[in-house]
Amino acid sequence: MTDSKPSSPGDGCAGCTIGSRREFLLDALRASAAALVAIGMAPSGAEAMPLRWISALASKGEEKTYPVPATDGVQIDKDNEVILARNGKSVWAFALACPHQNTALRWDAGNNRFQCPKHKSKYRPDGTFIEGRATRSMDRYAVKLTGNNVAVDIDKLYQEDTDNALWQHAVVTLP
Ligand code: FES
Repeated sequence: MTDSKPSSPGDGCAGCTIGSRREFLLDALRASAAALVAIGMAPSGAEAMPLRWISALASKGEEKTYPVPATDGVQIDKDNEVILARNGKSVWAFALACPHQNTALRWDAGNNRFQCPKHKSKYRPDGTFIEGRATRSMDRYAVKLTGNNVAVDIDKLYQEDTDNALWQHAVVTLP
């Protein structure tokens, strides 16, 4: 047998990691978002935060630049494995990988939270851990405001447990 790719997100993804099954997981992420739309769980009210796929505007070394999100929502740059999330005046950049075992996280628009498809850890829009097997919140990249853009340094990834002060401050507060 030459094709070991699972036929659906639920039947063989248990060992997936960002490096080994990245494309499959991103496909599953897209399918999940589409499924939520299909079953009527897509954002319908003012508080729902939609998902968009984005690419960096510019890339200078490890610094990736994105436009400041105009509205609340979640944006995913699959090429750089960056999640950009805005909620009110706050903007965060997260690693796409779940902090537990590196599975690509999904955005559950119906419940306004991130969820890991592997062990079901759940996180708030600011990345803070809600429940599941993970032992910390989502990892945050260093971010800064540069004019109308957000610059994300993908060489500086902070973990809530080991880099708590930096993790806490890895947020852009919009004027
Ligand atoms: S890999 Fe995400 S909770 Fe285990």
